[in-house]
Amino acid sequence: MDYQTPRFFRVVQYARRADRDVIDMVSGSPDWDPPAGIRDGLREYADFPADDFQYLPSDGLPELREHVAARRGVDRDRVIVTNGAGEANHLAMFGGLERFGGNEILLTDPVFPYYAGRAHFLDADVGFVPVEDRGHLDPERVRERASEETAVIVVNTPNNPTGAVYDADVMERLVEIAEVNDALLVSDEVYDHFDYTGRFSSAVEIDSPNVVATNSFSKAMAITGLRVGYAIFPPEDGPTGDLLERARTRHMLTNVTGSRPAQYAVLRALKTTGPEYYADIRDRLRERIDTFCETLEAAGAEYDRPEGGFYVMARFEDYDGSFDHAYELIDEAGVAGMPGQAFGDSRSEWFRFALMTPRVDEAADRLAAFFSR
Ligand SMILES: Cc1ncc(COP(=O)(O)O)c(C=O)c1O
Repeated sequence: MDYQTPRFFRVVQYARRADRDVIDMVSGSPDWDPPAGIRDGLREYADFPADDFQYLPSDGLPELREHVAARRGVDRDRVIVTNGAGEANHLAMFGGLERFGGNEILLTDPVFPYYAGRAHFLDADVGFVPVEDRGHLDPERVRERASEETAVIVVNTPNNPTGAVYDADVMERLVEIAEVNDALLVSDEVYDHFDYTGRFSSAVEIDSPNVVATNSFSKAMAITGLRVGYAIFPPEDGPTGDLLERARTRHMLTNVTGSRPAQYAVLRALKTTGPEYYADIRDRLRERIDTFCETLEAAGAEYDRPEGGFYVMARFEDYDGSFDHAYELIDEAGVAGMPGQAFGDSRSEWFRFALMTPRVDEAADRLAAFFSR
């Protein structure tokens, strides 16, 4: 499996060039409004004095770090504000690979392809742990696969692409496996606001020098274009405290710093957005999940109803999840989905559909019509 260049754009471009109306179920960009505080913050910022258009501290606006730290129950010094979770994952994976013995990064199969691409690009040896039915990760499988060669284990909950949510027990066992193998557990939690089970449990809640949690406002606040995320590293005065300093330096050398207006707007939105904003979006997504899954069911497709996030994996009889089939679905059904092959061998028979469109019911009908021909 070649993960070097994420292949997501190939499908998006093919869909754009199609000579017909295509419903985009590839992209993970929310189609709803950000909280009002984001727009208010950006508007307000335009009239700020010239000083506010200059560099901010490299690890982020102090008040934003403070806010994140208070919400997550950690010390502010442990938070680095990054250019989205993408950079947070990069800092964590790179840091773990350097800091811990061995050269292996362990990932799940299926996997968010950017982790695999990044692991290759960091010249790591990449190992995959297949998930169980419904996308659940059995920590015992990770334990069997991990060794002294393992430097980093990357997990993602709620999961893209499977929609699985890992509970507190799973997270504790994963942390323990990282500790026993002298490795770093990187827990990507960008979909934490999209948990429909109430079982989501953040790795930050576990007190361990072997954990970095990454997150972002891209999905939670529907601002994938603003690029504000963060990583929470182990405390600087602990046994792995050097991870934090290295990440700070790398972040500074690469970016100098992040975007001040974007961080300001996020801070404003954090202060002014109540839980109902997130609850409304979850309700909207639950409806989309119901509609999509009901139609898939009626059409005889196999699917995993997501416990979290906003993707549905589905499988159609005698129709594997190849790129050729994805292109055919665009041309013949007018629906663009991501081929399962892009996420690893274990889901090569499947497709992933993103529910980021108000046309979910129409898309489901189109798929049902296509597969009943
Ligand atoms: C699991 C996962 N992590 C990270 C990201 C990237 O997030 P960001 O936009 O904050 O870089 C995505 C985007 O789809 C994702 O699905």
